[in-house]
Amino acid sequence: NWRPEIYVNSIIEGLRKEVSDDGKALVAVSGGIDSTVSAIIAKKIFGDRLITAFVDHGLLREGEKEEVIEMLNFLELKPLVIDAEERFLNRLEGISDCEERRRIIGEEFAKIFEEIIEKEGIRYFVQGTTYPDVVESGKTQGSAAVIKSHHNVGGLPDWFKEKVKIIEPLKFLYKDEVRKIGTILGVPETLIKRHPFPGPGLAVRVIGKFSREKLEVAKKSSKIVEDVLKKYGLYEKVWQAFATVGEDKWVGVKGDSRSYGYIVTIRIVESTDGMTANYVRMPYEILDEIVKKITGSIKSVTMVTYAITSKPPSTIEPC
Ligand code: XMP
Repeated sequence: NWRPEIYVNSIIEGLRKEVSDDGKALVAVSGGIDSTVSAIIAKKIFGDRLITAFVDHGLLREGEKEEVIEMLNFLELKPLVIDAEERFLNRLEGISDCEERRRIIGEEFAKIFEEIIEKEGIRYFVQGTTYPDVVESGKTQGSAAVIKSHHNVGGLPDWFKEKVKIIEPLKFLYKDEVRKIGTILGVPETLIKRHPFPGPGLAVRVIGKFSREKLEVAKKSSKIVEDVLKKYGLYEKVWQAFATVGEDKWVGVKGDSRSYGYIVTIRIVESTDGMTANYVRMPYEILDEIVKKITGSIKSVTMVTYAITSKPPSTIEPC
């Protein structure tokens, strides 16, 4: 019988004892539920001493940046917006290994945060790490290996902890618990119901060599997947639904000529915590609609596949 209001008060009281009465704090908000709830809690602890930063790394979903800024303003967390798209994409171009991309993204985020920390004299750094992030990054006792280096856990360099004290209000919580806490803290329903999205964003949904072109394919086809599910009232019933783009190609027929195009894979899964997941048995008619919209509007896509492997053995994201 877990009571979110009691839990959130105990988090706030506990953290108040950990921090002093002065010194600025920085919270980096991605617009996801974890970082947003962390920011609201941090605001209750630090008040006007809190700076909320939103970094646009160019790997967000379509229309996401505008939505996030609007939501943060609504929550009175007026964000400092950092437009860093070129900075991130230039470094990612041509990189094939997803773990390397996570490392680069973590490094670039750390540089941006360092700039703010120096400029503003920040003493506390608030992060939205949740329990599965800790477990899957192999940081807990007894976990055998690093599955994926979720950058919000592993990515911060050692010097970070010397400059700032790290505050992680959600460290012991699962996603559904964070959502319950978010609800009582006034987070808009659209955000509560939005699917989890990885910190490195669409960078982990491009398989093989990273390029701006493939990024656009992943972004546009993911939007189509989301929109079609929303149309049929299925979006809120699933854990995640998106599209990825692969390295292999498929020959397509465009008019009289052959064209060699991208293969897009759709992934729709049910889960309660992201640790295990089942692929959703989608009606063929809905898959058909998604496929027609993707191939009809993105000319470089010549094949769409549906991922029918659960976790385990697969992970949710392709890489
Ligand atoms: P996997 O792919 O490991 O995903 O089955 C489990 C959950 O974690 C999300 N995910 C990430 N989140 N940084 C994040 O913040 C990452 O690098 C990352 N990789 C995966 C994934 O979307 C799913 O909800």
